[in-house]
Parts: sequence; structure tokens; C-alpha cells
Amino acid sequence: MGLSLRNKFFIPTFLLFFVFFLEQCSNKSEQQSAEKIVGDSASCTKKPVNPNGDSELSVLMRTMLHSSESMKELIKKGDLPKEFPEAFLKIHSAKPTDSETKKASFDGFANNYIDNLHALYNSPKADLTKHYNALITACANCHTDHCPGPLKAINKLKI
Ligand code: HEC
Repeated sequence: MGLSLRNKFFIPTFLLFFVFFLEQCSNKSEQQSAEKIVGDSASCTKKPVNPNGDSELSVLMRTMLHSSESMKELIKKGDLPKEFPEAFLKIHSAKPTDSETKKASFDGFANNYIDNLHALYNSPKADLTKHYNALITACANCHTDHCPGPLKAINKLKI
């Protein structure tokens, strides 16, 4: 019996390619579902892929999402992150993906978000959940007007 030299070479190479191919596929679907959870800002801009990389506002928003997730867990225990998130005050000046992304109403929504953030940090312990949910509503209000893609992820932040 015995495989010819060509088959000895061909079969392992073929298997290697096959494994590589499967890997690529599963990576891709993982990536896609991760994007779906966050709901990226492609839904707020006309460009499906941003050729200039992530905007300053996108990066800030993702930080806001992740810090709200950990804030939610603390609030459920009746606590609050110790440090006031100064970085979030940059929401007014952070550059969006597209110059048209920020509409005239943006600053009003941003002020409302920041007012709610201050209210949360000044809140008595008993009202933390109420103020936290109002803060998430402020995220959702701006998104309803500007960028509905991430609304599903935002609404999951409510307690
Ligand atoms: C004042 C309006 C406003 C508020 C308030 C706001 N967002 Fe956003 N958000 C935007 C805009 C506009 C974009 C699109 C950014 C871009 O395309 O550069 C965005 C993008 C996002 C994205 C997608 C980021 C990406 O590109 O991957 C997420 C997630 C997000 N916001 C979550 C939140 C959360 C969570 C909050 C509250 C803690 C919040 N947003 C509050 C306007 C707002």
C-alpha cells in the first residue's frame, strides 16, 4: 500500500487549510455577534465602515457603556463608584465619526446626561437606583434621536 509522495504532502496540507478555514469562520461570527451586542455606530452614520478608525466619541461611548455595566452591579449592592467619571464630561467636545452625527439637539441631551450624572453622585443611598435609571434614560433619549443602534444594549443597563 503506502501513499504516494504527492498524497503524503497533499492530505496534511489540505487538513491544515480546512482547520484554518473553520477557524476564520468562527472568528468572524464571534466578531459579528460582539458587534451586534454593542450595536456599533454604523447605525448612526451613513458609512458602514469608518475608514478613519473609531472616532473619539465612539471610544468615549464604549467606555461609558462598560463603566455603566460595572456601575449597575455596584448600584444593585447599594454602592457607587468612588471617582466621579470626569472623562464623560468630554461628551460635548469629543469628535464623532461624521460631522453630521451630532445634531443641533446633541448638546441639550448631553447636558441632560451630565445633570443626571451629578444628581446620581449627590444622591442619598436610598435613591441610588432611581437616579441610576434616570441616567440610563438620558443615554436612551439621546440615542433615540441620534443613533438607535445601541438602544438595545443601553436598555439592558436599567435595573
Ligand atoms: C448626547 C447624546 C448621547 C448620549 C447622552 C449618549 N450617547 Fe452614546 N452615542 C451618541 C452618538 C452621537 C454616537 C455615535 C458616535 C459616532 O458615530 O462617532 C454614540 C455611540 C454609542 C455607542 C456605539 C459606540 C461604537 O461606535 O462602538 C454606544 C455603545 C453608546 N453610544 C452607548 C451609550 C451609553 C451606554 C450612554 C449612557 C451611559 C450613551 N451612549 C449616552 C450619542 C449619545
